[in-house]
Amino acid sequence: MVGIGDFFGLCQFLIFTIMQLIPTLNTERLILKGVSMEDVPSYTRHFVDYDVIRYLSSEVPWPYPENGVKDYLEHVVLPQQGDGHWVWGIFLKEQPDQLIGTIDLRREGKPEHRGFWLGKSFWGRGFMTEANFPVLDYAFSELGFERLTFANALGNVGSRRIKEKTGAQLIGQREATFVDPGFSACEIWELRKENWQKFRAP
Ligand SMILES: CC(C)(COP(=O)(O)OP(=O)(O)OC[C@H]1O[C@@H](n2cnc3c(N)ncnc32)[C@H](O)[C@@H]1OP(=O)(O)O)[C@@H](O)C(=O)NCCC(=O)NCCS
Repeated sequence: MVGIGDFFGLCQFLIFTIMQLIPTLNTERLILKGVSMEDVPSYTRHFVDYDVIRYLSSEVPWPYPENGVKDYLEHVVLPQQGDGHWVWGIFLKEQPDQLIGTIDLRREGKPEHRGFWLGKSFWGRGFMTEANFPVLDYAFSELGFERLTFANALGNVGSRRIKEKTGAQLIGQREATFVDPGFSACEIWELRKENWQKFRAP
């Protein structure tokens, strides 16, 4: 017979375990925490927008399915969270219950090891650049990456600029397909641990 105390102990253990799988990271204006099913409404509100999704790989369906975010979190993100794939929700400190974007790292690059998106009404205020700093620190210091590969659609100026602003080097281009069929190539970037450390040094 399992008592109520055991039940709460188990819950605490599970919460502790999940927190270990993906740490909460803080910046001056943002909180980055592992996404959860509670985030489905705000994730859906900001993500399901052609102006956001058009820049993503053509693997992302468009029109976006009605329960797409719920299914993606439940069946893809959460089972792998902290086990080769780390997905942080991005929250404003002043509004900590509303997810406004995500940033993720994956152990096996596709070839990119990192992805991100931000709701359109939050663009142009430096939030994604700010979110990248603790995530890159975590990748190199805690997850043991020696080198990260990034990619963006050729023509995605905002995403390109974030790479430039975080010390990555452009290493090539190749054909690629995106949700927006107007994009037909991607730029490939590399960030080595030693370059990140130099970039971070005062
Ligand atoms: C790319 C994206 C995450 C940028 O987020 P953001 O918070 O607006 O980015 P930041 O404000 O930190 O920095 C963006 C930089 O790019 C510049 N930039 C952004 N959009 C631009 C545009 N359309 N044209 C020119 N420059 C642009 C900004 O001026 C800034 O550079 P600066 O600091 O030198 O002025 C956001 O636009 C987005 O979610 N886009 C759709 C999804 C996407 O493209 N994901 C990435 C796939 S690789």
